[in-house]
Amino acid sequence: MSYLAKNYNRKKISFKYGKGSFLFSSNGDKYLDFVQGIAVNCLGHAHPKLVKTIKEQSKKLWHVSNAFQIPEGEKLAKKLCQKTFADYVMFQNSGAEATEAAIKVARRYFYSIGKPNKTRILCVKNSFHGRTLAAIFASGSKKMTQGFGYVGGFDHFVFGNHKSLKKKITKNTAAIMIEPIMGEGGIKVIPDWCLKELRKLCNKKEILLILDEVQCGISRSGDFFAFEKSKVKPDIVPIAKGIGGGFPIGAVLMNKKVAAGMTPGTHGSTYAGNPLACSVANTVMDIVSNKKFLNNVKNLSKYLILNLNQLKEKYPKIIKEIRGRGLLIGIQLKSDQTKFIKKLMDNRLLTIRAAENVVRILPPLNVKRNEISQALKIINKVCSELK
Ligand SMILES: Cc1ncc(COP(=O)(O)O)c(C=O)c1O
Repeated sequence: MSYLAKNYNRKKISFKYGKGSFLFSSNGDKYLDFVQGIAVNCLGHAHPKLVKTIKEQSKKLWHVSNAFQIPEGEKLAKKLCQKTFADYVMFQNSGAEATEAAIKVARRYFYSIGKPNKTRILCVKNSFHGRTLAAIFASGSKKMTQGFGYVGGFDHFVFGNHKSLKKKITKNTAAIMIEPIMGEGGIKVIPDWCLKELRKLCNKKEILLILDEVQCGISRSGDFFAFEKSKVKPDIVPIAKGIGGGFPIGAVLMNKKVAAGMTPGTHGSTYAGNPLACSVANTVMDIVSNKKFLNNVKNLSKYLILNLNQLKEKYPKIIKEIRGRGLLIGIQLKSDQTKFIKKLMDNRLLTIRAAENVVRILPPLNVKRNEISQALKIINKVCSELK
């Protein structure tokens, strides 16, 4: 019997160790891991440089309070700001913590400029921003909020429906929060022109733009941030997952204007920005943020998408659409994906579901081309068996 609460429906498999793109199960089987902890292990399992960083830092210093200076955090914040739109960084420990802190930053900004009623956050209906109380109510999903009381302050619009978006804006709207590529919601990419229009709308109505890059950020899309291609500059960006390469860390990036509201005492988190997490993230940043690495992600993505589209042509009764960008890819099936994912797993390829019958494919960003080919062969085999 398990003493773990039953809030997960876990598959009956556990792993002894991982190496790069592969996981090795307790009963000796080798799996191609295209889940990677749900877009977390951006450099695969046990990357030698990350192992070295953890080894070295763990001998020096793990944790000190934010009451003191933390040079590893200063270094990481500088890298993040120099690489992006941001002027300031506030560290967190997870994605939900980062999205909640992003909401606090937005509200606090308006409070600090004498507009305390501008508090409402406008989000996409059935989006995903984490599982804490406010974050589930940000999602606008009945399934996620059922039985958890009520947290107010959120409005919702229908994805892709610009009329519904404009209708929901009021004088009390503080921010619009969206994922540039919806992950859990079914790998839906927001087109660049939409992001541009959204920025214009936010400027016109004095609304802040929060772009949640927890899943699509940190080079997963082929750019360091998914929104970069649109040339839009957000005000606030929560991040997590990839930035720690498997070590828990999150952060909120923000511009100077909104950062002014975050005065001492307005936010804090015991573990946030600890030396161990920041050291690992510094090493991740050094690897994933350079042009050569990003170009490789783009090339691998082209190869994967091209071949998946060929499979879509070959199996039109099974595959409806190939979605996504970079190495955040979805195969949308014509019907429920549960059996498909199970069959992939039986053939030693691990994938994970997303909304709208999508099979999510999340290889590590340093995946090898031949590993992608191996995955494609398995997907082809499963399609041919199901047709
Ligand atoms: C876009 C987005 N925001 C927030 C979160 C929440 O992150 P965490 O599970 O680390 O709290 C996730 C997690 O999947 C996510 O995809």
